[in-house]
Amino acid sequence: MQETNSWNPDEYKKHTSFVSELALPVVDLLDPKVGERVLDLGCGDGTLAQEIERRGAKVLGVDLSEEMVQKAKESGIEAMVASVTALPFTKEFDAIFSNAMLHWVKQSDLAIVNIAKALKGGGRFVAEFGGEGNAHHLVKAMELAFQKHPEFGEFVNPWYFPSPAEYKKKLENNGFKVEYIELIPRQTPMEDVGKWLEIFANGVTAHLSKEQFELFKDECKKYLKEHIYSQMDGWVIDYVRLRVKAVKL
Ligand code: BEZ
Repeated sequence: MQETNSWNPDEYKKHTSFVSELALPVVDLLDPKVGERVLDLGCGDGTLAQEIERRGAKVLGVDLSEEMVQKAKESGIEAMVASVTALPFTKEFDAIFSNAMLHWVKQSDLAIVNIAKALKGGGRFVAEFGGEGNAHHLVKAMELAFQKHPEFGEFVNPWYFPSPAEYKKKLENNGFKVEYIELIPRQTPMEDVGKWLEIFANGVTAHLSKEQFELFKDECKKYLKEHIYSQMDGWVIDYVRLRVKAVKL
């Protein structure tokens, strides 16, 4: 069965445009060249794929969300629904790019095997995603809300936030030379942490009723108010990004 994932592209763009705005340095690190073929893993609505194409490369975007793939296509990007855990490509791309997606993939070894297989020899893999310590308080708030309400069921953490040492080793074990890898703490202001939970906690709360979800949000907000809120700065999300550039040998 094909895995898919449901996102509302308009809500996502309205509340999280910072995700692609903050990723321009990752596009700089990719340094796309005229005529190159680039795979964008987790292309979303195609915003960053368009930036890569503006710099002269041709992009194929893949995403688990049919709605996002549709948006990407409407923006002129070639795109298809596919999972990094089942990529149908062999030695096709000069570079593979990914922003804010790989922390959703628990099967990180399989993802790296597929990325290596899809790249041509000498091809580069440039990505940024949540690294060790990412969104610590948000994840803790969710865990505590589930603990306090056994009727919510078990909290299953769907995210993978590796350390640079762990991820470097995995890449090297799969034939990559890691040229750069770094954790980047990124305190990010957010107007409404409730919206963040609606958009990003959808996977862990999909089974909750509407009333339970409201209770879940209230519980999380109570905890988060003490940890990531101040009158002066408002809500500030405690992101930590792992940024990496590796070359397939
Ligand atoms: C992130 O983009 O860093 C993120 C997304 C979902 C949960 C936690 C963090």
